[in-house]
Amino acid sequence: MRLLVVIPTYNEAENLPRLVSALFALPLDLGVLVVDDNSPDGTGEIAEALKARRPHHLDVLHRTEKNGLGPAYLAGFRKALDTPGVEAIAQMDADFSHDPAVLPQMAALVENGQADLVLGSRYVPGGRLDEQWPLWRKGLSTFGNFYARTILRIPVRDVTGGYRLWRRETLAALPLARVHAAGYLFQVEMAYLAYKLGFRLAEVPIYFQERQWGQSKMSFAIQIEAAIGVWRLLKRYRDLP
Ligand code: GDD
Ligand code: MN
Repeated sequence: MRLLVVIPTYNEAENLPRLVSALFALPLDLGVLVVDDNSPDGTGEIAEALKARRPHHLDVLHRTEKNGLGPAYLAGFRKALDTPGVEAIAQMDADFSHDPAVLPQMAALVENGQADLVLGSRYVPGGRLDEQWPLWRKGLSTFGNFYARTILRIPVRDVTGGYRLWRRETLAALPLARVHAAGYLFQVEMAYLAYKLGFRLAEVPIYFQERQWGQSKMSFAIQIEAAIGVWRLLKRYRDLP
C-alpha cells in the first residue's frame, strides 16, 4: 500500500531531518510531503535539501503565510489526493511527539480493511501522555476530549490527537472546502466529519512524548477556539446524516 505522510512544519529545523530519516527507515512503501509556512528558522530550505536527496520520495509545499495547522493540513491533503497512486495518507507532527514506529501498525489496519481512519490515541488502554506534562495541561486535554466526545456524541477517546492515518477514499469523501478550524479543533472537525459520514474509526494506543527541540505553536487563543468551536461544529454540519 502506497502511503504519503503529510508533515506540517513551522520552525522545526532540528526535528525535520531526524524525523524524515526515521520515516524512511520504516518497512513501508512511503513518501513524505512537508507543508512549510515560510518558517523563519529555515525549515523550508532544509526540506528542499532533503528533497534533493530523495526527489522521488519527498516533496515540499511552501506556503507564504502561517495561518494555523488546519489550513496547512488542508493544503497538504489536497495535494496528497492529487498525487497518483497514493492509497493512504498519514498526518503527524514534526517534533517526535508522534512516534514513527507506530505507523506500520496504523497502516496495517487500513490495508487489512479493518478501518477507514486510524487515530493514534493517548486515551485508550496502553496509550500514555508525557509524565513531564503539568497537571493543568493534562487536565485540559482530558477535559477537552471528554467535552468534545460528549457534545458531538462521537465514540472516540482521543478526538484532538494529531497522529492519524486515512484511507484515501475516506479523506476524498470529506467536504474539505467546508472545514474551517485552525488549531486543535481542526482535528476534532475532521474526525467528526469522518464519523458522521459513516466511516469506521479505529484507535491505536500511542505514547505522546513532549518535544525535545523547538517550541509548541499552540496558544491560548487556539484552546478557546476549541472550547467554543465544538458547539459550532454541531450546527455547522447539521445537514449531514
Ligand atoms: N505549516 C504549519 N503552519 N505548521 C504548523 C503550524 C502552522 O501554522 N502550527 C503548528 N504547526 C506544526 C508544527 O511545526 C508541528 O510539526 C505540528 O504542526 C504540531 O504543532 P505543535 O506546536 O508541536 O503542537 P502541539 O504539540 O501543541 O499539539 C499537538 O497535540 C495536540 C493535542 O493532542 C498537535 O498534534 C495538535 O494537532 C493536537 O491537537
Ligand atoms: Mn508538539
